[in-house]
Amino acid sequence: MQFSTGLRAVLASLLIVPALGGLLADVSNLPNDLTYDYIVVGAGTAGNVIANRLSANGNYEVLVLEAGVSDDGVLAAHAPFLGPSLTPGTPYDWNYTVAAQAGLDGRSFPYPRGKLLGGCSSVNYMVHQFGSSEDYDKLAKDTGDSSWSWKNIRQYIFKHERIVAPADGHNTVGQYTPANHGTTGTLPVSLPGNSQGIDARVIATTKEQAAEFPFNQDMGGGDVLGVGWVQNSIGNGERSSSSTTYLAEALKRPNVDLLLNAQVTKLVQTGTTFLPPFGPSVPAFRSLQFSKGPGAPVTTVMARKEIILSAGSINTPQILLLSGIGPKADLQALGIKTIIDNPSVGRNLSDHVLLPNIYNVKSGESLDNLLRDPALIGPAIDQWNTTRTGVLANGVTNNLGFLRLPSNATIFKTQKDPATGPKASHWELLALNFWINPGVPQPPAGDFVTFISALISPTSRGFVKLASADPFKAPIIDPNMVTTEFDKFALREAVRATKRFAAGSAWKDYITSPWGGLSATSDADIDAYVRGQSTTVFHPIGTSSMTAKGAKYGVVDPDLKVKGTDGLRIVDASILPTIPNAHTQGPTYLIAEKAAAAILNC
Ligand SMILES: Cc1cc2nc3c(=O)[nH]c(=O)nc-3n(C[C@H](O)[C@H](O)[C@H](O)COP(=O)(O)OP(=O)(O)OC[C@H]3O[C@@H](n4cnc5c(N)ncnc54)[C@H](O)[C@@H]3O)c2cc1C
Ligand SMILES: *[C@@H]1O[C@H](CO)[C@@H](O)[C@H](O)[C@H]1NC(C)=O
Ligand SMILES: *[C@@H]1O[C@H](CO)[C@@H](O)[C@H](O)[C@H]1NC(C)=O
Ligand SMILES: *[C@@H]1O[C@H](CO)[C@@H](O)[C@H](O)[C@H]1NC(C)=O
Ligand SMILES: *[C@@H]1O[C@H](CO)[C@@H](O)[C@H](O)[C@H]1NC(C)=O
Repeated sequence: MQFSTGLRAVLASLLIVPALGGLLADVSNLPNDLTYDYIVVGAGTAGNVIANRLSANGNYEVLVLEAGVSDDGVLAAHAPFLGPSLTPGTPYDWNYTVAAQAGLDGRSFPYPRGKLLGGCSSVNYMVHQFGSSEDYDKLAKDTGDSSWSWKNIRQYIFKHERIVAPADGHNTVGQYTPANHGTTGTLPVSLPGNSQGIDARVIATTKEQAAEFPFNQDMGGGDVLGVGWVQNSIGNGERSSSSTTYLAEALKRPNVDLLLNAQVTKLVQTGTTFLPPFGPSVPAFRSLQFSKGPGAPVTTVMARKEIILSAGSINTPQILLLSGIGPKADLQALGIKTIIDNPSVGRNLSDHVLLPNIYNVKSGESLDNLLRDPALIGPAIDQWNTTRTGVLANGVTNNLGFLRLPSNATIFKTQKDPATGPKASHWELLALNFWINPGVPQPPAGDFVTFISALISPTSRGFVKLASADPFKAPIIDPNMVTTEFDKFALREAVRATKRFAAGSAWKDYITSPWGGLSATSDADIDAYVRGQSTTVFHPIGTSSMTAKGAKYGVVDPDLKVKGTDGLRIVDASILPTIPNAHTQGPTYLIAEKAAAAILNC
């Protein structure tokens, strides 16, 4: 979200009290033999779960290497509503940009990734959900491993999540289904902590247009269809990131070391392993190199047991490629010696497409003035600082829902339905009571409501490739958005459905007119509008896809070990082959909880 420059300056100058301990100040504090049981690459969403669970029994020494800085003292990483000001283009962002998007008029746009403790969980918009049961059942079927089924994966929700009261203490009966949620897990989660002013209008529309937009009391039970209340990774009015929860707990233990500003540049082969009972011999990767930046000294560390790559959907494939694991021709072109020729590394990137549909609304009732006026944010910060309540204690949306194209939609005459199942969705609707249009600054005056329609079951696939053998150069990121007939059709119909939603009687005394190209009605005009407006919901997956053992393509096996290697696992969002019916932090936490349990069992 583009906050005004004045507001950004105010935010940048504000700090909160540092509280985190247990970090290693410098490489010189590492043990003399530079050896640990497990080395985790990336103190992000998944990496911190691994660090916590593997260190809990006290039997293992764990090193966590994080390229970024601490989240400690970064106000916007803790005051929920300020979170979107942390990206793009800040010291907490990798500052990536996508390649010119052929399906989007050749436009390029920022592709934020958190570069600080907590990774993306410290900068994301805090929507917290897990997806459709059918996402996991499809994963189990496609990988031939029933442990990925919804029935089995669900236990990790209860381990991960702790539902707590919302910041405003309102009665949440009828707004979620308690049985779907954990109450004793590690990460505090809550319902909206402050009304956005439009909440009642959204709920009224689900009653009035129940056939098309039915009310869903809770999307956390595997049944996502319908519109309802959001759950956020927020507790006590503060962001719950993997840093404030899993990592904070882990760092209290003597057997966890964490280094900041430590960017892993390469995995190092440590011999070959003969896999029982009949082979084959595969390269082992139980060592890696890291450094502070270009030209800085390089340190090599060793793992007795395993290296776990949790650098996320962009950097995990980047590290594999830099290490000689990837498509041979690509590596050769950059002078990198191929150790494992795997054409799937970095390929099949997929992402949810974000399309903001903006309306002008009655003046004075949106959150737009708060976002553009430093004089208004001051009192809100004071309130948050003293009581952890108010507008800053809340996330960016209070209501959202997952929806399907009609079953008689013409596209299904020529295309197979790409949803993960008949109860999974094609698109998502989110209601925000302010201007949000990534890359297009908020106008200096006016009030707006934004209905985001997001493409949830895209069939377009892109890639991450190295631009250079230099580990400090950004890779080429091409999500290749909206390049298929299905994706164009689904977004076009999502725009039409969103307009039907906004035409409900609850909006009559609020919405004044559509903004920009939203007034388009013909297929061609809506398609042009979609090409001109769409960007990302920031949910890349698929670049180190999990496939069945012995499959013809894929990067990891169902146990998340990198195919054809020993001592190396990937645990982050990049292993998902198909994007779930959810914002991706919840699924990432479940992957990490499941992987940690599996690692401890072997
Ligand atoms: C702006 C934004 C908003 C989002 N909003 C939501 C939302 O509302 N709800 C939701 O569910 N999801 C949201 N997401 C997506 C979600 O946060 C991610 O899918 C998820 O957190 C990814 O987790 P991960 O563990 O795969 O990677 P990350 O959390 O990105 O962790 C990777 C970590 O590895 C570190 N790293 C990378 N390379 C190296 C290296 N070479 N050496 C050492 N360390 C390295 C990174 O700095 C980072 O800390 C959002 C994402 C963004 C960027
Ligand atoms: C991203 O951009 C910001 C602002 O220009 C800068 O401070 C930061 O160092 C950049 N980060 C990276 C990883 O390039
Ligand atoms: C990408 O995924 C598809 C299945 O969705 C698969 O057929 C193809 O081989 C994959 N491509 C690569 C390069 O792995
Ligand atoms: C929050 O309050 C503390 C004192 O209680 C103060 O030191 C700090 O500067 C305040 N922070 C902000 C962001 O206002
Ligand atoms: C689909 O069915 C609905 C309801 O029966 C109908 O109104 C609509 O015209 C149909 N659409 C197509 C493309 O056949």
